[in-house]
Amino acid sequence: MDKLAEIEDLTLRYYTYEGVVKALEKVRLVIKPGETLGIVGETGSGKSVTALALMGIVIPPGKIEGGNIRVFMDGGFIEVTRADENTLQRLRGRVVAMIFQEPSQALNPVYTIEDQIGEAYLTHMFADIYGQALKEVEEEIAEKPSSIILGIERLILRRFLKNRRDRLANLLGKLPLLRSYRRRVRRIVRNMVVEILRQMEIPDPERVASSYPHQLSGGMKQRAVIAMALACRPTILIADEPTTSLDVTIEAQILELMRTLKERYNATLLFITHDFGLIAEMAERVAVMYAGSVVEVADVLGIFTKPLHPYTQALLKAIPKIGVRELTPIEGSIPNLINPPAGCRFHPRCPYAFDKCRQVQPQLVHVGEGRLVACHLY
Ligand SMILES: Nc1ncnc2c1ncn2[C@@H]1O[C@H](COP(=O)(O)OP(=O)(O)O)[C@@H](O)[C@H]1O
Ligand SMILES: [Mg+2]
Repeated sequence: MDKLAEIEDLTLRYYTYEGVVKALEKVRLVIKPGETLGIVGETGSGKSVTALALMGIVIPPGKIEGGNIRVFMDGGFIEVTRADENTLQRLRGRVVAMIFQEPSQALNPVYTIEDQIGEAYLTHMFADIYGQALKEVEEEIAEKPSSIILGIERLILRRFLKNRRDRLANLLGKLPLLRSYRRRVRRIVRNMVVEILRQMEIPDPERVASSYPHQLSGGMKQRAVIAMALACRPTILIADEPTTSLDVTIEAQILELMRTLKERYNATLLFITHDFGLIAEMAERVAVMYAGSVVEVADVLGIFTKPLHPYTQALLKAIPKIGVRELTPIEGSIPNLINPPAGCRFHPRCPYAFDKCRQVQPQLVHVGEGRLVACHLY
């Protein structure tokens, strides 16, 4: 299989009081199994909106106006823009999971880390957890003399608890066997949580599991968030500017952890950043976004040695180099997306712009092995 997900001509708008924000305009993107795909672009270029759409999340007043999002799941491709809530629920967590920029936003301050990661396990892996707890309880029963009460409890266990939030089972929860079952579920989940925290190279994972978010440092919180995202072994892990709120030493540790985890889980990573330096460190393939469109796709070596799109060239010139004191800022600013420039949205800032650029939006075209560029120069 050559792709895990494919976004085709995704167009998304926000209907606000100020006007219609044309946030995404025919975004095209393919995610290949096992790769680290970097998405780079200035703030406001549509990176987060694209990632959220991939998980079937469109925050109002946003509306998808065109295009397709196909994601490989349960042995076939689903169409995310038309999937029902049940399918999306399975998609999020088990297939695509996301690490957000700000760990405090991903964590609820009033629950412990164990509660929050445990909730992810209970939501997505309840059948496994139930099965194991039930097996243990059955072993316990086998040693007891049989009685009518025991028979009834057993029936409840078998018949009702399969549904996590069964009301009758909750009402009868004080029965000894059900309490024993509940204890076992809690223990199984706690073990899973401690184990995943250990894999995040968190020292003293037992203590961290019992902690509330405010009791942890920024780096530890971000590790807990990564654990939560990885808990259900998603095939695609999205990291949306995962280190922006951390200081540089912690940032280096988190990036190293992500590389290790990617290898270990053989995961596919979508790494989003506005920082070309991090792209060089993390990505194998790169998609450059500008003002709501993907303007160039290449492998990481190609993008740095031979950037094709004038915007990519300008971005790379803006990176500070050793021995060079001056940055070359890109002329102009990111356009207002309520009234974006016609044609190529980059044309007002582009030194090579000619008539066609002001009129026609360029499409991504193949220009050699694995390279795509959306520019009338090619
Ligand atoms: N809720 C919203 N209402 C209006 N516009 C929005 C909303 N969310 C995002 N946008 C717009 O969508 C565009 C892309 O945003 P985003 O994907 O967050 O950019 P990035 O992640 O690349 O910084 C921006 O122009 C932003 O203003
Ligand atoms: Mg963003």
